[in-house]
Amino acid sequence: VHLKHLEPFRLSLEKLQDVSARLRKDMIRGLGKHSHHRASVKMLPTFVRATPDGTEKGDFLALDLGGTNFRVLHVRVLEEEQRVLKMDSQICAIPQDIMLGTGEKLFDHIAACLAEFLDSQKLRGQTLPLGFTFSFPCEQKEIDKSILIRWTKGFNCSGVEGEDVVNLLKEAIHRRGDYDISSVAMVNDTVGTMMSCGYRDQSCEIGMIIGTGTNACYMEEMKNVKRVEGEDGRMCINTEWGGFGDDGCLKDVLTEFDEEVDKTSINPGVHTFEKMISGMYLGEIVRLVLLKLTEEKLLFRGCPSEALLTPGSFETRFISEIEEPDSGLENAKKILTKLDLDWDLVDACVARLVCDTVSSRSARLCAAALATIVNRIRINRGLDHLKTTVGVDGTVYRKHPK
Ligand code: BGC
Repeated sequence: VHLKHLEPFRLSLEKLQDVSARLRKDMIRGLGKHSHHRASVKMLPTFVRATPDGTEKGDFLALDLGGTNFRVLHVRVLEEEQRVLKMDSQICAIPQDIMLGTGEKLFDHIAACLAEFLDSQKLRGQTLPLGFTFSFPCEQKEIDKSILIRWTKGFNCSGVEGEDVVNLLKEAIHRRGDYDISSVAMVNDTVGTMMSCGYRDQSCEIGMIIGTGTNACYMEEMKNVKRVEGEDGRMCINTEWGGFGDDGCLKDVLTEFDEEVDKTSINPGVHTFEKMISGMYLGEIVRLVLLKLTEEKLLFRGCPSEALLTPGSFETRFISEIEEPDSGLENAKKILTKLDLDWDLVDACVARLVCDTVSSRSARLCAAALATIVNRIRINRGLDHLKTTVGVDGTVYRKHPK
């Protein structure tokens, strides 16, 4: 099937190589001492200077905020030979009004979830060290001092941007006064992913997330990290590649649908690359394409339903369901019915094609960006060939059938 509205989503190999080259330049700009202020790819130092060697052990609490779910965990890293990670965890919902309310309410909610979890695990008396995975761009001053640059994805709490997030968490715990934690280490989710993969596989030096948002981190040579004192060894850099294109350098790649998604998002003008790739946006892109094809009478006999006209109604998980190799077409029919559309078999097949086109573009852009990082590590080390492992996580990566 040839549909002119799908053409702009099909990026040629040459175009992808070009995108990769542009990202390479932006990564260099982000690392520079004097250029990083203006860089759209922020290349944030993480103060993580090594990946695990597998001998680590201990008893920890962990918080995971910024993906699909907020989780509280108790992690016991056991003896070396067995390398068992014992885990108990609990998911706590974060209601929409807290995601968009005050920072104080958000951190009170987090502290309350942690209290409830400590009780259920009978851990309240112990003062355990805590690992805090906070999946937003932060200017990290030390491993336990981290200033939120801006909210992304669905979050927009007042009074947190520009503040030290570790401190806000500690303050909320102290306000309660009924339990305490020991030292805190804060990491981005990409860094957490790289570290947990690296615990088992020492060649893992890249972490990538394709979930609600998208991002990657990797081990950079200290001598290239101009914003941190010291020349020796390596440091993990949180690229924040979601912001790639925020200076307009991806104009030729964006479609009219991407522009619409950006305009109606809660953070217009920022996270251009993320909005073409991640779960928070893919469903909406598909909805806008389906709507356009309907308006042009190429789908659903030219009649959009109330649901199809409603922003957010086409969930990203529908894409995964529709692209299932076996049940996909049946799933497409069910979803189109649920959206109150008057479909025929051709419509269901076209809807499938639209999903495939939008998710393939996402995958290719990720691949191009990942290639940029891998090539950078390879050249840093003066190698012709690099063998490495990438730790990957995120709901889109986990749930999408391809
Ligand atoms: C955030 C990153 C995060 C990514 C994946 C983005 O919106 O800016 O810090 O790693 O989402 O969760």
